Amino acid sequence: MSELETLTKEIAQCTNCHLNKGRTNVVPGEGPENAEIMFIGEAPGFHEDQQGRPFVGAAGRFLDELLESIGLTREQVYITNVIKCRPPGNRDPLPEEIEACRPFLDRQIELIKPKMIVTLGRFSMARAFPNARISHIHGQPRKINGIVYYPMYHPAAALHQPSLRRTVEEDMRRIPELLAQADQMEESAPPAAAEQLSLF
Ligand code: URA
Repeated sequence: MSELETLTKEIAQCTNCHLNKGRTNVVPGEGPENAEIMFIGEAPGFHEDQQGRPFVGAAGRFLDELLESIGLTREQVYITNVIKCRPPGNRDPLPEEIEACRPFLDRQIELIKPKMIVTLGRFSMARAFPNARISHIHGQPRKINGIVYYPMYHPAAALHQPSLRRTVEEDMRRIPELLAQADQMEESAPPAAAEQLSLF
């Protein structure tokens, strides 16, 4: 068993926070161990909890379409979330839930070593850029410790707010070019104090 498979099993048995009590399934994440791109969403919703797989509901269908628009399938990328269990009623993740799951996401990133991490929505963005506003920094890549971080709006935001759809589609369309340039991209200057980096 690979280290990632071992980690995935460990996540599937986690009882580190109270969310384990209400879940149907843990949603550790899925995709190839050597994926060049990792997408990080927020938290499992109803359908993800039912199936134990990330992004399988309406937002997931939109993510699939977005991937297809740049010639990718979900089998080619790694998809996970900041927290691995569904919060009741799909409420926002609490700080202690994010902290409880943090070591899992850290280890997933260490093992997969993606060239690019696409953060979907403000919770995964906040792990890299805690004080940034998504409306200010979406679509702006930054290379930090060898990984290109690329913040995007959450696909569900575009479903609820149709005016964002075009923005999400345009941000997505830049991914192939950014990935091709990832090795040559310069490391970013340290983020401004207002956008302090908390290491992924
Ligand atoms: N929204 C997320 O952030 N993650 C999922 O897995 C599904 C919907």
